[in-house]
Amino acid sequence: MPIPATQFIWFNGKLVPWEKATVHVLSHALHYGSSIFEGLRAYETPRGVAIFRLRDHTRRLFDSAKIYRIGMPFSAEQLNEATRQVIAANALKRGAYIRPVVFKGYGEIGVTPKTEPPTEVAIAAWEWGKYLHHDEEESGVDACISTWQRVAPNTLPALAKAGGNYLSSQLIGAEARRLGFAEGIGLSTDGLLSEGSGENLFLVKDGVLLTPALAHSVLGGLTRDTVMRLARERGIETREAALPREMLYLADEAFFTGTAVEITPIRSVDRIPIGTGKRGPLTETLQNAFFGLFSGKTQDKWGWLDYVDMAAPRVAASG
Ligand SMILES: Cc1ncc(COP(=O)(O)O)c(C=O)c1O
Repeated sequence: MPIPATQFIWFNGKLVPWEKATVHVLSHALHYGSSIFEGLRAYETPRGVAIFRLRDHTRRLFDSAKIYRIGMPFSAEQLNEATRQVIAANALKRGAYIRPVVFKGYGEIGVTPKTEPPTEVAIAAWEWGKYLHHDEEESGVDACISTWQRVAPNTLPALAKAGGNYLSSQLIGAEARRLGFAEGIGLSTDGLLSEGSGENLFLVKDGVLLTPALAHSVLGGLTRDTVMRLARERGIETREAALPREMLYLADEAFFTGTAVEITPIRSVDRIPIGTGKRGPLTETLQNAFFGLFSGKTQDKWGWLDYVDMAAPRVAASG
């Protein structure tokens, strides 16, 4: 399904009509993968629409820029405000998926040209439901271990959410789907569990929540961090660890986390059922705690919800 268009995209400092947010075919990012981006969700809550962990996503965007030495033409606060503006200007009251992207634009051609191409910044948002088809929130999905490994340390930095990294994700995800699985899991170059093509991976063994450590070529997912905090707060022992592939086959429960998939149970890996082959009790507890943040049942003691003033004055659109 194509992206359901909204009215405005914030593009290089102003709101422009959706169809006018275009780039030149000779933009650096299109040829050399020089983009960094984020994916956020806004949720409908009893107190109005709120963006989940906005400041943390913006910080990760700046971290990605730092790794790649991309100069950012806007401050973090300007981008936070622009994100709120995109939600308000498009009247996305029922929640949204939000996509900020920063990329090297049109300038000199060449991988590392003498003069840096200009950095362009866009933030779009639209209504979006589930990523992996979901009745799967309960029943879980079938995953496989990919024949493609994740990017190796000291090649492409996994902690940067950069466009180029998603070539690896495309290989992993497309192979899985071609073979009839919902998602593929990449191993790190030392053969240990890493993550899904666009999600972090968790497993539960004997009541302990385990997830690959950041050293195993994973993105430092904000849902991953959220789940670990919610788990620890509930007295669930939680560890970041080096996990061999077979630990997943022997797990009592397993699930993916990510802004898109939220918390999605994994019911089998390589056709081997995980635990009882359906969502386990700890996964359900964590899903309830997570979704409770948006229904109001879970107290947001971290200030993760950034409420959007839908009546805020809108900057006039131009372009
Ligand atoms: C490769 C990869 N890992 C993990 C995640 C999960 O990160 P987050 O929970 O911040 O969305 C994502 C999604 O952004 C991703 O693309």
